[in-house]
Amino acid sequence: LIIYIMKNTTTLKGKKILISAGPTREPIDPIRFISNRSSGKMGYALAESAVEEGAEVTLISGPVNIKEPKKLNFISVSTADSMFKAVLHHVIGKDIFISVAAVSDYSLKNPYKKKLKKNNKDSLISLDMEENKDILEAVANLTNRPYLVGFAAETDNLKKNARKKLENKKLDLIVANDVSRSDIGFDSDFNEAILIDSQEEVFVPKTNKNRLAREIINHISMKIKE
Ligand code: PMT
Repeated sequence: LIIYIMKNTTTLKGKKILISAGPTREPIDPIRFISNRSSGKMGYALAESAVEEGAEVTLISGPVNIKEPKKLNFISVSTADSMFKAVLHHVIGKDIFISVAAVSDYSLKNPYKKKLKKNNKDSLISLDMEENKDILEAVANLTNRPYLVGFAAETDNLKKNARKKLENKKLDLIVANDVSRSDIGFDSDFNEAILIDSQEEVFVPKTNKNRLAREIINHISMKIKE
């Protein structure tokens, strides 16, 4: 007699998840922009892992060099402001929001309409910048807020700074990663993280981003059942 045990492997069946990934680009003039080193790998790995666990996934992505993943709703954005608007629109009705995007903290007040020309008289130029709105903070203040997961990209005092972001941004969970190391974090295929909430800290040692994504998704699916 052979008994087949059917394991229920889809832990997020029926759940709606919004994920942001990649960098944003803040224009200086029609040719140039200010951006950061995010490749999108971490956010895309989380999106694929959530799809594998049976979730209905919306991925809002800044400009990256990764192929558009299948089986999810894909939205492409460029500036921090367009990411803000897309998140605030698509977060309605979602159970979970994971903000992996490396959103620019500042953008130019008035981007130049024409290409900035070299000025031989004065080798210094200054750019007048203003702070961008915080996406997580805005989502945290919604009346029907989803389970809110932020990332903390830190170069020093990893745990302390991540905990500050968890509290200031009123998050349910924060994933702290060290972006000062060249073997993990930005652009690497590998990462290492501490998952921090008000109850506990879980350390996930260096592994590839797909594995880490699975650990994070499992952690979240356990947390939302608690
Ligand atoms: O893309 P990869 O190359 O794979 O690299 C992955 C990563 C290092 C980019 C990723 O793991 C990561 O740490 N993402 C968060 C990057 C970031 O902007 O961190 P932060 O500590 O500056 O911001 C904290 C949180 O606030 C983040 O969840 C961020 O999405 C959010 N934020 C930031 C600014 C803003 N205006 N609105 C926000 O919601």
